[in-house]
Amino acid sequence: MTIYFTTPLYYVNDTPHIGHAYTTVIADVLARYHRLFGHETLFLTGTDEHGQKIQTAAHRRGVDPQEHCDEFALNFQNIWKELNIKYDIFYRTTADFHKKAVQACLQKLWDKGEIYSAEYEGWYSVSEEIFYTEKDLVDGKSPQGREVTRLKETNYFFKMSKYQDRLIEYIKNNLSFIEPESKRNEVLGFLSKPLHDLNISRTKSRMSWGIDLPFDNQFVTYVWFDALLNYAVAVGLERPGMEADLKKWWPNAVHLLGKDILTTHAVYWPTMLMALDVPMPKKIFAHGWWLTDNNEKMSKSTGPTVKPLDMKNIVGVDGLRYFLTRDISFGNDAQFSEELVINRVNSELANNLGNLFSRSTNLIAKFFAGRMPKATLTNPATQALKTQAENLAQLVKTEIEDFSPNKAVGHVVDLLNAANKFMEEQAPWKQLKDGQTAAGAETLTAALEVLRISGILLSPVMPEKMSKMLELIGSSGSASFAEASKWGLIPEGTAIAKAEPLFPRIETAAKG
Ligand code: MSP
Repeated sequence: MTIYFTTPLYYVNDTPHIGHAYTTVIADVLARYHRLFGHETLFLTGTDEHGQKIQTAAHRRGVDPQEHCDEFALNFQNIWKELNIKYDIFYRTTADFHKKAVQACLQKLWDKGEIYSAEYEGWYSVSEEIFYTEKDLVDGKSPQGREVTRLKETNYFFKMSKYQDRLIEYIKNNLSFIEPESKRNEVLGFLSKPLHDLNISRTKSRMSWGIDLPFDNQFVTYVWFDALLNYAVAVGLERPGMEADLKKWWPNAVHLLGKDILTTHAVYWPTMLMALDVPMPKKIFAHGWWLTDNNEKMSKSTGPTVKPLDMKNIVGVDGLRYFLTRDISFGNDAQFSEELVINRVNSELANNLGNLFSRSTNLIAKFFAGRMPKATLTNPATQALKTQAENLAQLVKTEIEDFSPNKAVGHVVDLLNAANKFMEEQAPWKQLKDGQTAAGAETLTAALEVLRISGILLSPVMPEKMSKMLELIGSSGSASFAEASKWGLIPEGTAIAKAEPLFPRIETAAKG
């Protein structure tokens, strides 16, 4: 299997916040799972560097736009490094190859008659860089409440409306193209009204930070038309010599994005591809938002935005990655707060996973001189745990392939819960004190097998902590997916380190 994950390209008018971190962490987690399954995986993220927002941001700081972009793109790269994001491509829309490919696409569309020039008369929001019709306006302002100015000028339009029926047909015949289902229905709802042609030119005298239209240098390209092309250009569209890459990756592209940018991805982009005679990507998956305590979308401007790095200092990188994967049903909205993050990390990592780990390794240190004991399986309770553990890998794989990372993690949590319950019931500390060495050994080796299997299956979510844990139980070399569905792979005599807590409990400052 081959799979190509993309995140949106983030605007460089802002430093990364939790919203950006979410799409990127989820893409990283999914990509790491697919790598673990042995699939050929490509993962792209990057920055969207043209347009009014960026020009204004650079202007405010009194720096040259390119210099501004370089600086902010680096910010994103640094934060992704700190969050342990393992992307293959960091795409920047100011790269020369991108500008050339965008111009080649525009020229092709122009030559084919898919773009035409026409007199435009209507309302334009400079700050949003969007054209509005009279009926779009709310109290004389844009629907977002921004100032608009009346314009009458010539512009270039992409014949988007021509593709409306074909797109509706495609979405209806390919139900996995837009997911989740609720978002597919939203797109179909949007498409049930007449689709306009898309104004893809911006007058240079007003906004010059963009890619020149190849057929009229008085204009630059509308930033979405420029940025969306990245997904295909990255793997070879209009890049001579990359035809094989394009064939290999493009039909396997999965676009992950927030629901706020669904129309651009599910309407503009597919119609652009149709006009260019390029096949559709495999999937467009729109996730929900992280909301503040007041149920507002978290962003730089609404509510107390928690910087991803701030939470990382409290719960660690892996704790934050775990929360983002676990606490939201992929596709829905969920609340984000310091308290929710800490509670989740305390209950499932410090308590559930952490307890199983420290209890079992401490007992092995105490009663078996820190070596994996010999054990024979005789207890039906051990057999039940073994069966549950052996089935886990397949369950996780199915959920990941179904874009439900929270459910995948949930299955691991179920196994860890079962293992902790098993420990309570068997009470190996008592078994061993009472001289029932064989029974105690059976219980502890089972606990360690559960940790090994869970460690492999949680490693895409918490790469650092899980590799440390696997190392401490002598299993770092055998952390492949095949080994996650087998029981009994830690050889007798393996050194098991007595460990300090993997996830120390986080004490919250007393509230109120
Ligand atoms: N530059 C465009 C995308 C172009 S793609 C060719 C853009 N950039 S953005 O910087 O605004 O980032 C958008 C991404 O951040 C979206 O996936 C969006 O949903 C995500 N988030 C921003 N705030 C969010 C939350 N509060 N919660 C979850 N994700 C949200 O749009």
